[in-house]
Amino acid sequence: MYILGIESSCDDTSVAIIDEAFQVLALVISSQTSLHKKYGGVVPELASRLHTETIHLLIEKALEDAGLSLHDIDRIAVTKGPGLEGALLVGLTVAKTLSILLNKPIMGVNHLQGHLYSPFLSQHPPLPYIGLIVSGGHTTLAKVDTGAKITLLSQTRDDAAGEAFDKVARLLGLPYPGGPVIEKLAKEGNPKAFRFPRALRNQGLDFSFSGLKTAVSQTVQQFTKETLPIADICASFQEAVCDSLCEKAQLACELSEVSHLAVCGGVAANQYLIQKLQAYTSSNGIILYTVPIRYCTDNAAMIACAALIKWNSGHPVEKEIPMATPGLSVCS
Ligand code: KG4
Ligand code: ZN
Repeated sequence: MYILGIESSCDDTSVAIIDEAFQVLALVISSQTSLHKKYGGVVPELASRLHTETIHLLIEKALEDAGLSLHDIDRIAVTKGPGLEGALLVGLTVAKTLSILLNKPIMGVNHLQGHLYSPFLSQHPPLPYIGLIVSGGHTTLAKVDTGAKITLLSQTRDDAAGEAFDKVARLLGLPYPGGPVIEKLAKEGNPKAFRFPRALRNQGLDFSFSGLKTAVSQTVQQFTKETLPIADICASFQEAVCDSLCEKAQLACELSEVSHLAVCGGVAANQYLIQKLQAYTSSNGIILYTVPIRYCTDNAAMIACAALIKWNSGHPVEKEIPMATPGLSVCS
C-alpha cells in the first residue's frame, strides 16, 4: 500500500510517499525560508502563493523518486490544521482533487499528531509514550496511547519554544529562523553568563517563554551593538529554554507513570537540547526517542505516517472530505 502525504500548513511545502511498513519511499520539501527571511517571519499570503507554485512539481518529483505513477497511490493524507488557513487550503485542495480523480480514500491529518507520530518513521517507540512537541508554533506535552489515543497534558501559555528562538534572534540582529543560528553561536558562549528565568518552575506542566524573551531584551538594552556579548546571550538563553523543556518533560513522564519519551518538532533539531534530554532521561530511568532532523521539521512523511497509524487503529477508510481547521488542538 502506498500513501501519498501532503503538508502545507506553514512555510514548507512537502510531499512524501510511504508504504504500509512506514518506509519512506520519497520525501521532498521545498522550504520558503529564504523568501520570508527578509520580512523577519512568515508572511501568510506569500506562503500560500509559493505553495501553489510548487506543490505540483513536488508531487511529480516524489513519484519519480519512489519509481511510482499517480495510479499506484492507494491513499492520500493531507494536513488539515493547525496552521495558516490559506496555506492549508492549497494542500487540501490538491489532495481532495487527487482523491476524486483517482477515486482513493483521503484523510485530513492534525499537523501536531503528525509531529507526535514522527518517531515511527525511524523506530517504533512502545506505547504509551510521552510526546514533547517543540516547534515554531507549539510547545506541547501529550500522552500517545494505543488505539491512536492522544491526551493533551500541557502546552505553552504564551510563546512557543521555537518562536522564542526566532524572537531572540531578531533582538540580537540575527537572521530568521533563529533556532539554528542561536544553536551555532551558543557553542562559543558561556551558558552561565546570564541567569535568565525558567518560568513556571515547579508549577505543573505548562510552559511559558514570553518572560524569558523580555529578560533577553532587557539584557540586550544594557549593551551597545559593539559590546553585545551575542554568544553568551545565545548560550544562556538556550540553556534556559532547554532547562524548562527537560524539567517539564521529565515531570510529565513521572506524573503519567510512563517511561518512554519522544521529542519531535523543529526545535528537536537542536543537538544541545537532545544531549540535555539524554542526560535527564538516563538518570531518571526514562528511554528517550529522537527523530532524525529531516523528520523533525515540517514534512509530509509524518502526515502520511499519522494517517497510517490511525487507519491501522480502526479509523474508517473513506472519502470524507477534510476541511481546513486552522486552530485545531492536538487531540482533534
Ligand atoms: O516544526 P517546525 O519546522 O515548524 C513549525 O511547525 O513551527 O519548527 C520551526 C521552528 C522555528 O522556530 C525554528 O527556529 C526552530 O524550529 N528550529 C530550531 C532549530 N532548528 C529549527 N530551534 C532550535 N534549534 C535548532 N537547531
Ligand atoms: Zn510543525
